[in-house]
Amino acid sequence: MIEYYKAVTAMDKGKIKRIGVLTSGGDAPGMNAAVRSVVRSASSLGIECLGIRRGYNGLISGDIEKLGPESVSRIINRGGTVLYTARSEEFRTEQGRKKASEVCRLFGIDGLVAIGGDGTFRGLLEFSKYGIATVGVPATIDNDIACTDYTIGFDTAANTAIEAVDRLRDTMQSHERCSVVEVMGRNAGHLALYVGLASGATAVLVPEKPFDFERDVAERIRIARINGKTHFMIIVAEGAGSAMTIGDKIHEELGVDTRVTILGHIQRGGAPSARDRVTATSMGFHAVNILVKGSTNRVVCERAGKTSDIDIAEALSMKKGLDEDEYSVLEAVTGIGE
Ligand code: F6P
Repeated sequence: MIEYYKAVTAMDKGKIKRIGVLTSGGDAPGMNAAVRSVVRSASSLGIECLGIRRGYNGLISGDIEKLGPESVSRIINRGGTVLYTARSEEFRTEQGRKKASEVCRLFGIDGLVAIGGDGTFRGLLEFSKYGIATVGVPATIDNDIACTDYTIGFDTAANTAIEAVDRLRDTMQSHERCSVVEVMGRNAGHLALYVGLASGATAVLVPEKPFDFERDVAERIRIARINGKTHFMIIVAEGAGSAMTIGDKIHEELGVDTRVTILGHIQRGGAPSARDRVTATSMGFHAVNILVKGSTNRVVCERAGKTSDIDIAEALSMKKGLDEDEYSVLEAVTGIGE
């Protein structure tokens, strides 16, 4: 890797002079580590970095600050994003993107690294038509970006949710209750599946597998009861259905005292895990090197443990299904006991 880095440095240094970096969409733990890595990797090649605040909105309004290696000190361990984030309506319009391209020219930004999810990459793809080199870095707790096995923030969010579920289990056990816990994930069940597997859930409901209450919830609770369990843990992905409705049904049909907890934005905050810091650092470094090589319209991804990259349009055309192996394991172990 070092040799490659040196070769790229010698060959292409000087092509890209100023990189803009922004975070966009829902924040994710590890975004700061990615920003830091972009700034430090660029700086080591003599490339200037500008931080764009509030996502694409900042690119339109010129809400921009110079970032040097020192200005990103002590952020690797911080949750959220020091650059702030937004979902920009204006950038969805041709007019908005045109304004943003003028701002780029004004500030001398010739390469742009956008850290975020699918929506962020769709914006980048449109924006690349204005002649600015673009790279996306995947960061979302949902882990729902098809081109990559992993997105920055997932591990931290999963661990936060797992800790919450463990705490809930203590009190559910004492009162012999059922806990229905809603986790985030938008339209995807990756987070719920992972949390369910790690916390020994009685049942896990994900949007990718339309559920039947009798078969997938009631029956599992009955089997767990037969096996001697007196408390139950049901994990519901937010896209799978209403946790409140499921909780009410469990109480009505099985007579189990039930409590519903919606973990919500708790899952998005907190210090990034080691996994998220290291992945963010590696992806930020890779993003800068893509620009240095003269490539554009790429998304950084992790496949089979290796950091690589893929064309944005191709990335956006891909669909990510649930990990069926993980789901089979879940099917085999849920409902019996933790
Ligand atoms: O995409 C990340 C995510 O946290 C989803 O899991 C969730 O559905 C959504 O963002 C919540 O968005 P907001 O922060 O705008 O409420």
